[in-house]
Amino acid sequence: MPDTTNPPHRPSILVTGATGNLGREIVARLRIHGVRLRCLTRDQPDPQPGAEWVVGDLTDPGTMRQALVGIDAVFLIWPLLDSAPAHDLIAELTTATPRIVYLSSTAIDDQAARQSDPIVQVHADMEALLHDADLRPVVLRSDTLASNARGWARQVRAGDVVSGPAAARTAVVDERDVADAAVAVLLAQHDHLDHGPHLLTGPEVLSRADQVVQLGAALRRDLRFQALPAELARSRMLADGRPEPLVEALIAASTRRPESHRVTDHIQRLTGHPAGTFAKWALDHAAEFG
Ligand SMILES: NC(=O)c1ccc[n+]([C@@H]2O[C@H](COP(=O)([O-])OP(=O)(O)OC[C@H]3O[C@@H](n4cnc5c(N)ncnc54)[C@H](OP(=O)(O)O)[C@@H]3O)[C@@H](O)[C@H]2O)c1
Repeated sequence: MPDTTNPPHRPSILVTGATGNLGREIVARLRIHGVRLRCLTRDQPDPQPGAEWVVGDLTDPGTMRQALVGIDAVFLIWPLLDSAPAHDLIAELTTATPRIVYLSSTAIDDQAARQSDPIVQVHADMEALLHDADLRPVVLRSDTLASNARGWARQVRAGDVVSGPAAARTAVVDERDVADAAVAVLLAQHDHLDHGPHLLTGPEVLSRADQVVQLGAALRRDLRFQALPAELARSRMLADGRPEPLVEALIAASTRRPESHRVTDHIQRLTGHPAGTFAKWALDHAAEFG
């Protein structure tokens, strides 16, 4: 007869950004791990089996206090362009004391007084806030997510040229690998927890032009990337209805973020499998561009 006197502890895990490109992958993985799963969204969620969905906003401490009740570990993103509103969230985390897995950026330069652009600066500020509050976060610094390519789908459907702001070459990482790494550290035994920072990269340094060519190969089409001058990229993004502060942050990232040749084995170390290529991501997601 099974011993039911001391059932194993099922950790309660809160996933922020649960509806996003990365968060969806983490939710899908945690569902099959038998944890108690709580997912945060700002919108009224669709009821889905295997997870509790709660409405909340990272900048609204009342909703975050509710979301953190009974939580052992939290996968934390900070998708805002300013870290100032995070102070209230830090206070809530200090009270709740869950394990925190923070999704940061490989573009952080630990030697620099100021980071290359506002998006990287926010991640550096968030890491500092979490450390200064003695929250001992596990820091996952992610390279450019392959899923950003979804932003090209409309252009790919319309023609063979994908245009946008140029970006420095970097080791684009499959968000499914980042999700595997996040799940590994969310579920790791306390004694085996390495707080990082873990530098999560793909296996190959790619330009946007390289990515578009590889996407074309997956679609059996000759696609090419056209880098737009900053002024033109800015006016197009504004015309598309993107908020001005976001557009300025994206232009700053495009013009100021340096090229990175760093390829690490940290995905392999955390997950036990190698990081996948962008070419594989493109093949697996080709239907989304058809
Ligand atoms: N993309 C990259 O290359 C990259 C690289 C390094 C790090 N990161 C970090 O990874 C994060 C996730 O990336 P992603 O591509 O999965 O993002 P995404 O697809 O754009 O999703 C953003 C998520 O953030 C949630 N969100 C936005 N504002 C919120 C708020 N005020 N309160 C609560 N939730 C909020 C959204 O949830 P609802 O709309 O459902 O509320 C959504 O689930 C980014 O935000 C960034 O900080 C990204």
